[in-house]
Amino acid sequence: MTTAAPADGKIWTVLELLTWTKRHFVSRGIETAQLDAECLLAHVLDVERLKLFLDFEEEVSKVDRAVFRDLVRKRAGERVPVAQLTGHKEFWSLPLKVTADVLVPRPDTETLVAAVLERLPGGDAPLRLLDIGTGSGAVALAIAVERPTAHLVGTDISKAALEIARENADVNGVSDRIELRHGPLFEPVAGQRFDWIVSNPPYVAESQRGTLPPELDHEPEQALFSGEDGTTMLAELIAQAPALLRPGGGIAVELAPEQADSVTGWCRDACFTDVRTHRDLGRRVRVVSARLPAG
Ligand SMILES: C[S@@+](CC[C@H](N)C(=O)[O-])C[C@H]1O[C@@H](n2cnc3c(N)ncnc32)[C@H](O)[C@@H]1O
Repeated sequence: MTTAAPADGKIWTVLELLTWTKRHFVSRGIETAQLDAECLLAHVLDVERLKLFLDFEEEVSKVDRAVFRDLVRKRAGERVPVAQLTGHKEFWSLPLKVTADVLVPRPDTETLVAAVLERLPGGDAPLRLLDIGTGSGAVALAIAVERPTAHLVGTDISKAALEIARENADVNGVSDRIELRHGPLFEPVAGQRFDWIVSNPPYVAESQRGTLPPELDHEPEQALFSGEDGTTMLAELIAQAPALLRPGGGIAVELAPEQADSVTGWCRDACFTDVRTHRDLGRRVRVVSARLPAG
């Protein structure tokens, strides 16, 4: 196997390109080297990732190699997230458009979706839900797809993010049940009432700046940081939510494991009952949910 870069005049097959790129990514400290190489090449060749394995011996054209080389450089050199390079990310099996204006939806956030779905009342009753900080719309869309009787309002302080959420709602066929509103926290929905409030707010601690993976430099600042210990927006959400919830309504928020004790305490201070924690696949607490008394 040659170790020359894919810029030279030789013939490069799919397998050779993947092998070279994986090694290159590993040498640059990228943990998901193999997966990233496959996602980027599949994107350039406009095929499903698994199709690459059937095409290992196929030659990759000079034009495709040039496009691929540019993406590999941005991934390895500038540490641009793969989803920003390909322009999309799958979340809850839904295809979502992603740009630098939105947080790349994380698999961890599926724990939030699962927690809300588990706690929503059953049956066909219409439900009104609020997703604060909707970003790409990931959480709101997943809930809307799973619960056809749910109407969702998604809010965000970023107008650019709301435009992406709108496109994602259209593509996933739920735009008739998703309203998008611009503004901070509960301001865009003042005076309204909801059955459940859900949020994946910014919760990275300012004190962690400088210790974070370089990929985060490419994501919107306001999607990540929230005060010295990361809990400023979480605290505001829990304190203000009861005024917007119907009796028996609930809230579910994503957080960092070390924030769970504070947040469960704030839920009880705000008169929530039935406070629960939800763990991700790695058994770490990533979501707190709670309900108001019914009557
Ligand atoms: C961690 S991202 C979550 C995005 C998306 N919900 C997801 O789970 O992938 C947080 C989002 O909250 C928005 N945001 C930050 N501060 C906000 C505020 N005070 N009010 C409303 N949205 C806010 C950011 O613009 C960002 O889109």
